[in-house]
Amino acid sequence: MSRRVPQAVVDEILQRTSLVQLVGERVQLKKAGKDWKGLCPFHGEKTPSFTVSEEKGFYYCFGCKAGGTAFDFLMELDKLPFPEALRYLAGRAGIQLETQYFAEEAARAEKGEPLYTLLERTNEFFRRLLREDPGAEAARAYAARRGLAGDLAETFGIGWAPSGWQRLRDKLHSASVEAREALDAGILLKREEAGPLSWENLRDKFVDRLTFPIHDARGRIVGFGGRALLDDQQPKYLNSPTTAVFHKGKLLYNFHRARKAVAEKQAAIVVEGYMDTIALWRAGIENVVAPLGTALTADHARLIQRQTGEGGKAIVLFDADPAGRRAAFASLETILAEGLDPWCVFLENGKDPDEVLANEGKEALVAQIARPRPLLAEFLRHLLEIHSVHEVAGKLGALEEAAPVLSAIRNGVQREEALRALALALSLSEDAVRSELRRLGRRPARGPAEKSAAPAAPRPASFSGAERSLLSLYLQSAKVRQELEEQNVLELLSSVPLQRLYSVAREAAATLAGERGLALLFDRLGEDPTAAEALRAILAEPLGVPLDDEKGLAEALADTLQKLRRVQLQLQRERLRAELQEGPGSASQEDRPQLLRQLLDLERQLRQ
Ligand code: GTP
Ligand code: MN
Repeated sequence: MSRRVPQAVVDEILQRTSLVQLVGERVQLKKAGKDWKGLCPFHGEKTPSFTVSEEKGFYYCFGCKAGGTAFDFLMELDKLPFPEALRYLAGRAGIQLETQYFAEEAARAEKGEPLYTLLERTNEFFRRLLREDPGAEAARAYAARRGLAGDLAETFGIGWAPSGWQRLRDKLHSASVEAREALDAGILLKREEAGPLSWENLRDKFVDRLTFPIHDARGRIVGFGGRALLDDQQPKYLNSPTTAVFHKGKLLYNFHRARKAVAEKQAAIVVEGYMDTIALWRAGIENVVAPLGTALTADHARLIQRQTGEGGKAIVLFDADPAGRRAAFASLETILAEGLDPWCVFLENGKDPDEVLANEGKEALVAQIARPRPLLAEFLRHLLEIHSVHEVAGKLGALEEAAPVLSAIRNGVQREEALRALALALSLSEDAVRSELRRLGRRPARGPAEKSAAPAAPRPASFSGAERSLLSLYLQSAKVRQELEEQNVLELLSSVPLQRLYSVAREAAATLAGERGLALLFDRLGEDPTAAEALRAILAEPLGVPLDDEKGLAEALADTLQKLRRVQLQLQRERLRAELQEGPGSASQEDRPQLLRQLLDLERQLRQ
């Protein structure tokens, strides 16, 4: 806490900032009573519904419900991160910020920065070898055979990781790179796990493979995928290990190139891998991304959603075989839960996009992709196929599988429609389906008669005591909000409504303490009755600590965080155990030692 900017300084900056002047530089404002009015810069409008109150230091748009302080204004309009907004406003207000406030941020940047540079240089090395190295003959032939030549190879930065286990290592060594850094970047491996860290004990992670650089959303290289040159070589693809900048579950291949097209088309096409992504790109389809060999995660869906906005399309493209269909259905709930509209394309004859392109040409591929089908309807149809729905047991089985998917639908009308379709297909009354879903402990879809009634209650299971206490503290104490500012609170929360509630509260953090703070929060949650209901439930319970008892608050927070972290560690342990087990989705041999180490580490932490 000591290194963060004290709330008093933030308040001082706000005090000394004329919001009307700040906003007035961007928006033409007219005096209206005590306040000022103008055309909202956050959405297009012809009559002013954007109000600025100098007295309250607060702006609010009655049209799009944007609102907040000078900080929010800069952060939302100029997309400035908080520290930047802080620097700027402090400068305007003539307040000197102690550099130590930024120490943490600077430290983080320093830690990440050399990795990016190193990865960038490594990629240049791989690319040059593919172009020029005498040893890359086979790689060049393979790349050409797969269509990865010329401009396309340039666009995607395709390279060749050399054979011999140590060419990259020697190159980095002679370039005076730190061994520790090369290891941290995931491009070298320790030969002997337990051995000392020395150049002799390091070897190349990627050996004799075609390399695909993987970028983060900002276009920085964070890791690599490497394709074996022979089809029977195992593993066929090798990814960078998890590093400070490489997390499979949070990265989508090609996202930084695709994001503009995704935003324009309000749709992202999700394919299975590198080659499929590039195949679509070659066919002129640019809004294409791929997970890195994992299932689609909530983080992936959220990346897409931020480009398309609520209701954007996620079009999953899979082979038409049972495995492909299963994978598509497995992504359905995730897509719906992030407020995206799920569509699918199942390619004919069990081919992947790259094969369709190679065998049948661009037009054939484009034609198939041009006819996506609604994934939810496909899923419901699939349920009817796999359950014998003329029997009661079959109906129940189908309902049980449908329940989490239906309750993930955020749009009430869509949820209602899906429920009606399911009832019809199962020859059950809608009421029977609704009550069965309720019994299954899911959020019940509301019937027309209940539409205007109070929102449905959140699932009881989605709300642990510690989560309630964390959110309660966060909502009511500015001190706690400041304390949590740099922490990843989202990952501590188990359900989508709670995560949503927290995200919205965080966006509105600067205004929470204001008199309209909570009202604004409810406004913003309007679209999400479950989160709003969770908010009501939280506020209905007493906090248990007086808000002015600093020590008590700090203790309550520490206690709550500890409980939630423990749950987090336990979940991680389960995930690791599952990955280490044999079977589908299990880790590659390469990744095992690393995962095992993580597991042991977790066990140790949990014993403490
Ligand atoms: P090609 O055979 O080169 O056309 O690749 P593909 O994309 O058709 O391969 P596949 O459908 O088997 O794999 C899709 C994606 O899963 C790849 O792009 C990789 O991200 C991942 N993947 C496939 N095989 C492996 C593997 O052996 N190890 C790892 N870690 N990932 C893999
Ligand atoms: Mn393929």
